[in-house]
Amino acid sequence: MLDQPFGISMRPPAERAAVLCGLAGWLPPRVVTNDELSQRLDTTDAWIRTRTGIGRRRFADPGQATSDLAVEAGRLALASAGQEHVDAVIVTTTTPDRSCPATAPLVASRLGLAGAAAFDVGAVCTGFVYGLAAAASLITAQVADSVLLIGADTYSTIVDPHDRTNAIIFGDGAGAVVLRAGHADERGAVGHFDLGSDGTGEELIMVAAGGSRQRSTPGPAEPQDRHFTMRGKEVYRHAVTRMAASARATLTLADRKVDEVDHLVPHQANLRILRTVADDLGLPAERLVTNVESVGNTGAASIPLALADAAAEHTIRPGERVLLTAFGGGLTWGSCLLTWPTLPPIAHPHDSGGTQAP
Ligand code: COA
Repeated sequence: MLDQPFGISMRPPAERAAVLCGLAGWLPPRVVTNDELSQRLDTTDAWIRTRTGIGRRRFADPGQATSDLAVEAGRLALASAGQEHVDAVIVTTTTPDRSCPATAPLVASRLGLAGAAAFDVGAVCTGFVYGLAAAASLITAQVADSVLLIGADTYSTIVDPHDRTNAIIFGDGAGAVVLRAGHADERGAVGHFDLGSDGTGEELIMVAAGGSRQRSTPGPAEPQDRHFTMRGKEVYRHAVTRMAASARATLTLADRKVDEVDHLVPHQANLRILRTVADDLGLPAERLVTNVESVGNTGAASIPLALADAAAEHTIRPGERVLLTAFGGGLTWGSCLLTWPTLPPIAHPHDSGGTQAP
């Protein structure tokens, strides 16, 4: 079932690769603990921790939109790269500021990058890996010399606060990377990709209203259709199989063995999912990078936030081989292999929003 005849398998060309040269994460200040959620939902800290591994998450304040988080992460990533300008800005998000226009042009302008090409990529929780492939392709195709890629989401704006199954999982945040042109044998070179999708699973993760499907139907949208919905059990099964299969496909393409992977950085969906994927791949638990306990599932921000956490804590070191893998609505999935670059010290995302997590 998982032998896909189609999809993207991408090798970096030897002569010109995209190289990771800047990284940052940013979290809004407001910490929401499981205990706080338990006060308004029929749930408990113990249930949430056992089923998901999540202990707390951040929520954007009222009036704070995805672009506000994206700008903060983007600014820090540019500073980390020591760059003031880039040729292109890509924002990947499921919670754009508006359904029209895209969020990236606004973010670019607010970062002083007006004039840069700017567009959004939508692939739900796989957004960062899809965005990375798009950014790397702009560079390898010699269309751009540098790209700022920002994954940002404010799920608190689309999840029904009374839906105990989903309200406990998602958090808000932003993570960003800067890529520049370089060589495939350099540290930081963004390597092989595997990307795929299966739209027959559209209904497993969706916001039913707000798009042309609902607007082309007579009558106003039902209030519940404006909220994010997810069929948790089925999504769980797909997430495990797809992330593991995509990670394996990337390793095969790169002609690498699992034991050559120093760190697996999956989309931070749920700790049980991540442990099962690592287990399935035969990777020891200590090579699994996870920060889901402190941020929850932050959608397109989750991989760059996990990378920023790990880099800030020196868990990932220069020269080590890092495998990213993600799964999300669509259904979509994707993986990418890279070697870790030498970066200037990365600020811990938990310190960025102004409030230290408890
Ligand atoms: N607190 C307490 N009980 C809860 C609850 C909560 N927050 N949410 C659901 N429950 C209840 C259900 O109502 C159900 O009760 P019932 O047996 O009386 O009907 C019971 O717990 C089991 O529900 P179920 O949905 O079968 O639980 P689960 O073990 O599948 O866990 C998820 C639910 C959502 C945590 C799990 O399915 C999951 O993690 N899915 C993947 C989600 C994810 O990571 N998505 C992102 C992918 S990109």
